[in-house]
Amino acid sequence: MKILVTGGLGFIGSHTVVELQNEGFDVVIIDDCSNSTENVLDGIVAITGKRPLFEKLDLKEKSKVEDFFKRHSDVVGVIHFAASKAVGESVEKPLLYYENNIGTLVYLLKELSQKNNASFIFSSSCTVYGQADQMPITEDAPVKPAESPYGNTKQMGEEIIADTCKVTPGLNAIALRYFNPMGAHPSTEIGELPIGVPQNLVPFITQTGAGLREQLSVFGDDYPTEDGTCVRDYIYVVDLAKAHVIALKRLLENKNSDNYEVFNVGTGKGSSVLEVIQSFEKVSGKKLNYKIVDRRPGDITTAYADTTKANEVLGWKSAYSLDEAMKSAWDWEQKIRS
Ligand code: WQD
Repeated sequence: MKILVTGGLGFIGSHTVVELQNEGFDVVIIDDCSNSTENVLDGIVAITGKRPLFEKLDLKEKSKVEDFFKRHSDVVGVIHFAASKAVGESVEKPLLYYENNIGTLVYLLKELSQKNNASFIFSSSCTVYGQADQMPITEDAPVKPAESPYGNTKQMGEEIIADTCKVTPGLNAIALRYFNPMGAHPSTEIGELPIGVPQNLVPFITQTGAGLREQLSVFGDDYPTEDGTCVRDYIYVVDLAKAHVIALKRLLENKNSDNYEVFNVGTGKGSSVLEVIQSFEKVSGKKLNYKIVDRRPGDITTAYADTTKANEVLGWKSAYSLDEAMKSAWDWEQKIRS
């Protein structure tokens, strides 16, 4: 069966392509390479021995999307990663985010709605919860007003999919609300490739460890948490990739109980910034150079998942620890710097 993976050259997308191929799916990738490079394909081939089809295409071009689905009428499912995802950038350039994250979603859904049976997996985010009132966070925790246009596009995206599924019997969708993805494939053939200065904690840590960055700034240690630093749920990217394949198979095998479902994808465990630093120091044997600075505007204090629904309904559970995920991130950093 042929699956379209949009954004399949990206961090989570490329790891999901590997897991799809491992499960025997044929994969076609669409990526505009705005935040990725074509040589990620070589990494995928090095792992699976199979080269996915690839089309460099901007999903904002409606006619190109229509033409793609005419040429690939045998696509039975779509895993949709392609989107802009930098929280800070979205505040400065909201229209870029609404056009790229919402416009493209509408074009994809229009094409899938014309099929008599289509499966759609949406890359959503725990950011839709904002600062949840209770921990761990369950899927029925209230969606709070978004703290950024990026977060708003995830909330709007979910609503657009839910509304469309309601009136499109042939369309079945699952939204996966990621917590904080991290790490790299154990082969070190693919991993996270942040462009410029990393916004996210883990790549900044490994780049500091590799000597690319002078020092990590820890954004605040005066939060109401055990050690004063923010707590997040760091999920290993290979665990996350496997969740996508399990979700897709749930739809392809008609095991879903509703034609739009939502699942949290996390470990169910919270780790503070200082604990993540300690994990790096443990797995690398290196002391990390960091300093405490002011809070980063927009950061929430604590977020970690209640994974009961994913474990019991989806049949997925994370398998890797923070240290194992951090080891993979460090191995990858050393590989790309060698
Ligand atoms: C984690 C913690 C920072 C960098 C964002 C998006 C989310 C998803 C993942 C896309 C926070 C602290 C960070 C640094 C630091 N993105 N930190 N120094 O903000 O939880 O989530 O990325 O889907 O939607 O919101 O992740 O890695 O940026 O920050 O102290 O140099 O690390 O304050 O507490 P975040 P993050």
